[in-house]
Amino acid sequence: MKKSLMISLVVAALVCAFALPNLSAAPKAPADIELKAPFKMRQAPVQFPHAAHEKLVPECTTCHHEWDGKSEVQSCAAEGCHVAKRAKKGETPSFKKAYHDLCIKCHRAEKKGPMGCKDCHPKG
Ligand code: HEC
Ligand code: HEC
Ligand code: HEC
Repeated sequence: MKKSLMISLVVAALVCAFALPNLSAAPKAPADIELKAPFKMRQAPVQFPHAAHEKLVPECTTCHHEWDGKSEVQSCAAEGCHVAKRAKKGETPSFKKAYHDLCIKCHRAEKKGPMGCKDCHPKG
């Protein structure tokens, strides 16, 4: 084996050894997610292009506001979070309000992305 090739292989192996743990550090989401409520839904579930939003929105924590940046990412409807069908003022926002406040407010502010009911709930 040529010496230069040998050196390249060693360098490549070292790069991989350092790069791989970093790659696996951020929890990976599916590219597209069907969002379902923890109760009987009135609307068709919303199809959310997650991979696209990772590029559109610079910070994961804009949406995953309780995430510490290293642990597993919790579902928005995890226990103690946005599980309720309805909620009073001062309580943790309901499932619907949490999503509408997040998704619709940003699309309105950016003047881009779906804003009408049927644009997000196509079969509803
Ligand atoms: C525009 C909002 C938004 C942004 C930005 C975003 N996510 Fe998400 N992510 C979501 C939503 C909504 C879900 C679905 C949560 C659920 O099912 O309750 C999700 C789900 C996930 C899941 C799967 C969690 C599970 O329930 O198994 C992971 C992992 C994840 N996101 C990681 C990330 C990382 C890492 C980033 C940044 C690179 C990021 N997300 C950026 C909205 C976002
Ligand atoms: C912080 C800003 C932000 C948040 C939060 C956000 N979006 Fe978006 N979204 C965008 C922008 C910007 C676009 C427009 C992309 C374009 O047209 O180039 C978009 C586009 C979309 C599209 C159309 C994608 C396409 O391929 O045409 C869907 C569907 C969508 N968003 C769903 C959601 C849902 C559901 C949520 C909440 C879970 C959400 N978005 C939260 C910024 C956001
Ligand atoms: C930007 C996208 C978006 C728009 C626009 C939007 N919604 Fe939603 N809505 C969601 C998301 C995301 C959820 C939570 C996930 C799910 O229900 O699939 C949700 C949840 C709901 C729920 C609770 C779940 C259910 O099916 O019972 C209702 C009801 C609802 N939306 C009605 C509406 C109505 C009515 C409009 C128009 C006035 C509207 N939404 C506009 C994204 C949107």
